[in-house]
Amino acid sequence: MIRTAALALALLASPAFAGKKKSEDAAPPAPPAPPAAPAAPAAEAAPAGAPTPADIYEYRHQAFEALGKHMKASSLMAKGRAPARQADMVAHAQAMQGLSTYLLDMFPAGTGPDVVAETEALAEVWTDWTGFQARAQDFATESQALVTTAQGGDVAAFGAQLGKVGATCGACHDSYRKGD
Ligand code: HEC
Repeated sequence: MIRTAALALALLASPAFAGKKKSEDAAPPAPPAPPAAPAAPAAEAAPAGAPTPADIYEYRHQAFEALGKHMKASSLMAKGRAPARQADMVAHAQAMQGLSTYLLDMFPAGTGPDVVAETEALAEVWTDWTGFQARAQDFATESQALVTTAQGGDVAAFGAQLGKVGATCGACHDSYRKGD
């Protein structure tokens, strides 16, 4: 898509293309064609290179913030402060379970506190990768169970399983994230 748009633009700007528009009596060259609509987004979307460690941290931060929001929205339902619709419970549970499938991928080597000042991840993430993996697996297991529970549609059961998921968040943060 992006390449196609860029190619179309290049063609529009090329003398060969402009030449076709010129009238026979050698009028001044036509002004350059206005940029095609997709030009600006395409240019921005084109990656200049691989994401930097700061980029990787920023993405990780946003993904965890989203996870935290799904947790909070779910707990409003569990506490009876939001309508406990089955579809909502399932959607939040799936979003959390979904993050568990790429959690470890968000922590490549070289994105720790020695490189990225803003990160709240402790160096132990990388020095004790096996332990970190185990905490991630606990979260994956409990969030998968949350999806199943949510599909059952029972808000009390959902709340109970949500508590188990929350415990896996805390267990990982205790050892691998800076304290507040
Ligand atoms: C396997 C470990 C692990 C699990 C499981 C985990 N987290 Fe985290 N979380 C981290 C680490 C490490 C960071 C710090 C990331 C960084 O700053 O680079 C973090 C950051 C966060 C942040 C962002 C905090 C901030 O101010 O930047 C939130 C919110 C968060 N986690 C919520 C949750 C919730 C909610 C759960 C469970 C549903 C959870 N996390 C499960 C390890 C984990």
